[in-house]
Amino acid sequence: MEYATLSNGVKIPMLMYGVYQVTKEECERCVLDALEVGYRGIDTAQSYFNEEEVGRAIKKSGVPREEVFLTSKVWIEHYGYEECKQSVLESLDKLQTDYVDLFLLHQPFGDAYGAWRALEELYEAGKLRAIGISNYYVDRMVEFASFNRIRPMVTQMETHIYNQQKNLKEYADKYAITMEAWAPFAEGRNGAFQDETIVNIGKKYGKTAAQVMLRWNIQRGVIVLPKSVHKERMAENLDIFDFRLSDEDMNKIAALDKQTSSFFSHQDPAMVEWFVQMVEERKQRQDSSKEKKNW
Ligand SMILES: NC(=O)c1ccc[n+]([C@@H]2O[C@H](COP(=O)([O-])OP(=O)(O)OC[C@H]3O[C@@H](n4cnc5c(N)ncnc54)[C@H](OP(=O)(O)O)[C@@H]3O)[C@@H](O)[C@H]2O)c1
Repeated sequence: MEYATLSNGVKIPMLMYGVYQVTKEECERCVLDALEVGYRGIDTAQSYFNEEEVGRAIKKSGVPREEVFLTSKVWIEHYGYEECKQSVLESLDKLQTDYVDLFLLHQPFGDAYGAWRALEELYEAGKLRAIGISNYYVDRMVEFASFNRIRPMVTQMETHIYNQQKNLKEYADKYAITMEAWAPFAEGRNGAFQDETIVNIGKKYGKTAAQVMLRWNIQRGVIVLPKSVHKERMAENLDIFDFRLSDEDMNKIAALDKQTSSFFSHQDPAMVEWFVQMVEERKQRQDSSKEKKNW
């Protein structure tokens, strides 16, 4: 395993296991498998609804807590100072831990500044070892990095061969913010696993397309968070520390950039409205369940 060092001196693995879209039913088994094949970092979130399973698996695995770099993220319905603080404390309970290694603001919407003040406070209280942001496009990252007391240590963003985020990386470096790639395979969209350039580069090193995609990001200093529910793929995705892509191959991959999301843009107003509506609906559901409890 290779490690990076965050701006506050905390060591972070360059490759961690992501549990987005890993169901509640499968999550405990998947995290146990990941830890068994050698992963030492897990990336979850309040909105993945599997923090309990992650926490249970870490406990069951017998791997000492301090050897596992644990990340979670605050969902936007918990933004604002009070709600964020409360929700992080609930996450700690679900994860069965006294501290989390990294907590991120999951989305750049709503009262993120209020939520950040809660994260700053929990960081200073030692409950969080590092704090950061996710899905902040470069302009918003620079703004957020500039107008807060504590600068984010990490920025997590969709980053893969077709959406390389070169501009974000340049500014993340300038502000000493470590970059993490979500969907490092673009979830296989646009034929990423069959990409001819990637497959051919892999043949030279005796590596799969998946391994080349991960190695490329790591070599440019970007942490990767691959997800798989298959143990053999988990092992394959981890087996990338015994080779190095040449400068020529790094340049060939750099030329594949389409500078477009394979999913959706957070700058699309219709998408922002979708987030707003989702938060409103969840709040309504919570209010009506509270009312029922009061009857
Ligand atoms: N901050 C955010 O907003 C955000 C958003 C999305 C994701 N994330 C984080 O990033 C992590 C990864 O992103 P992701 O899960 O969206 O996508 P991803 O890791 O790019 O792709 C996962 C897909 O690739 C397949 N796969 C994995 N390894 C493979 C291999 N060696 N060969 C062939 N197929 C393989 C998986 O299938 P199987 O599972 O069937 O093997 C799954 O369909 C998430 O789990 C989460 O932790 C964060």
